[in-house]
Amino acid sequence: MSDTPTQLDFNDGKRAPQLGFGVWQIDDVHAAEAVETALQTGYRSIDTAAIYGNEKGVGDGIARSGVARSEIFLTTKLWNADQGYDSTLKAFEQSLRRLGTDYVDLYLIHWPTPAKDRYLDTWKAFLRLRDEGRIRSVGVSNFQPAHLDRLLAETGVTPAVNQIELHPDFGQRELVAYHAQHGIVTESWSPLGQGGELLQQPVLVELAKRHGKSAAQVVLRWHLQHGYMVIPKSQTPSRIRENFEVFDFALDAAAMQALDALEAGHRIGPHPDQLQ
Ligand SMILES: NC(=O)c1ccc[n+]([C@@H]2O[C@H](COP(=O)([O-])OP(=O)(O)OC[C@H]3O[C@@H](n4cnc5c(N)ncnc54)[C@H](OP(=O)(O)O)[C@@H]3O)[C@@H](O)[C@H]2O)c1
Repeated sequence: MSDTPTQLDFNDGKRAPQLGFGVWQIDDVHAAEAVETALQTGYRSIDTAAIYGNEKGVGDGIARSGVARSEIFLTTKLWNADQGYDSTLKAFEQSLRRLGTDYVDLYLIHWPTPAKDRYLDTWKAFLRLRDEGRIRSVGVSNFQPAHLDRLLAETGVTPAVNQIELHPDFGQRELVAYHAQHGIVTESWSPLGQGGELLQQPVLVELAKRHGKSAAQVVLRWHLQHGYMVIPKSQTPSRIRENFEVFDFALDAAAMQALDALEAGHRIGPHPDQLQ
């Protein structure tokens, strides 16, 4: 097996590293340090959002790392309050300014917020920014099939990615099947179940022991082998490195099934139909 980090192909002809680095709940100062450590470790994909309040730190970390911007796959997200055509264009400029870049690789609508009913206009602004070359790929986050169906019906443009809550005890099988049918890449957020009880599950502990790896590494392998993009977060340098060392082993079919069997419908975050 090759130790080389894997890439995934998008429906728009672009590609992205399958494993990235998430920075939710890291403040601006520490985000710069964490991003610098991640890039020096070998990560080439960073996932932030306007609402995380650390886009400036992410930009500083990229600048400090010495890694060329062109080698980095950078994702940010439009916050709910900024949904709408003109407000999206404005919020995007502000994100670029904070990030210190003139394009993003992937821009996501953070939540559909269906009660606002603005995600269609927001999507149209995304398509304009993509046509101008300032967003390389357009995507969404926390979208349900009904929201995706509407984007497709009204604009004919399928998102490259839907970033959703997904971990072994919340496998989102229906949504994943929808993505597969429509050529949308599934990207897992909170892939480690936020480092909580999931990592103590006996089956995981046993598999970790068998492979000489940590429970977190086994979970990340599960995401990779399912074909998901995955963006674990850590503020701890040793864990940032640990979470990248997942390309030198593989889970067999029985191990994948044992992890699939952890499914418990255990959603941690809000339901996307309810968040305003
Ligand atoms: N689109 C959305 O709505 C949405 C929502 C949530 C998250 N996200 C994205 O997804 C990323 C990841 O999700 P997340 O931050 O919620 O949770 P996560 O990556 O599942 O878990 C992060 C937690 O696990 C701990 N951890 C990391 N590596 C570990 C390891 N090897 N062993 C044990 N514990 C470990 C971290 O602790 P330390 O930091 O202390 O090391 C942190 O407390 C976010 O950073 C963000 O970029 C997106």
